[in-house]
Amino acid sequence: MINVSTIIAGVKLDGCVFNASGIRCETLTDLENLAKSESAAILTKSCTLEARKGNPIPRYANLEYGSINSMGLPNPGYKAYLKFSKIIKKKYKKPFIASICGMTLSDNIKMFKEFNNTPIDLIEFNPGSPNTIGKPIVGYDFTQMDRLLNAISKVAKKPFGIKLPPFFEPIHFNQMAKVLKKYPVKFITCVNTLGHGLAIDPKTERAIIKPKNGLGGIAGKYIKPTGLGNVRRFYELLDDKIQIIGVGGIYTGTDAFEYILAGASAVQIGTAFLQKGFGIFETVQDELTQIMKAKGYTKLSDFRGKLKTL
Ligand code: DHB
Repeated sequence: MINVSTIIAGVKLDGCVFNASGIRCETLTDLENLAKSESAAILTKSCTLEARKGNPIPRYANLEYGSINSMGLPNPGYKAYLKFSKIIKKKYKKPFIASICGMTLSDNIKMFKEFNNTPIDLIEFNPGSPNTIGKPIVGYDFTQMDRLLNAISKVAKKPFGIKLPPFFEPIHFNQMAKVLKKYPVKFITCVNTLGHGLAIDPKTERAIIKPKNGLGGIAGKYIKPTGLGNVRRFYELLDDKIQIIGVGGIYTGTDAFEYILAGASAVQIGTAFLQKGFGIFETVQDELTQIMKAKGYTKLSDFRGKLKTL
């Protein structure tokens, strides 16, 4: 028997594949559909203190090898998710993960406190979207991250993890790992989109999306090697003490297998979920199971993190 279940921050997931935040997870209907699907958890759209309409459209586009978006955090505000979590957890046993992305330190503290009193299982804290106009990506500011994590750690009663932007320099991996280790961070999710990419339609000579003069977060196949590199580097730096959830360009069981080999304890699907629909969770997990069977692995820990180098 092949077992693809996993435990994240003490919470048991029946599978290791679930939705990435941002994709079909904004409304109660979206979350209920995830509850009924083969997604191993229900992760919400990142929420803010107040409801937001987001950026002007078009703000998402499929590209040849993935997608570009500059959504601008459209969401009904955290109070809606407090309510949704109660409704969903009453009906379904599946782990529920709230994604929080406050605009300020005090917004984040407020939301963490409020989620303490809900039946949610975990929090994925998102320290900044690449698409919020006028706001830098906080994940690239290590001093700010330290301040944020210090404040959050004091109020959070739910286990939490951090969604990280992609890093590209050894010193940045080291600095981030050092900050993470100071606090009770249970997991990190690697990686958010590659910020500030540009997609152009050569026929019209125009940018493809409207916000930020066409600049947006790049996802899908373009970013898999970056995602894998980030998972691997943090797996080495965090000594397996902080778990890693891999995300970025997962379309197949082979992609998921590679992320787990690099050190991931679970994987999320974003662009491929939008492009291929709910069946993607079952497809990826079935393909992963077949790969494990062919290789004689019966559980994720048989190969998790065991990447060989030359
Ligand atoms: C948005 C995009 C992100 O990559 C993110 O982490 C949060 C929000 C957005 O544009 O809505």
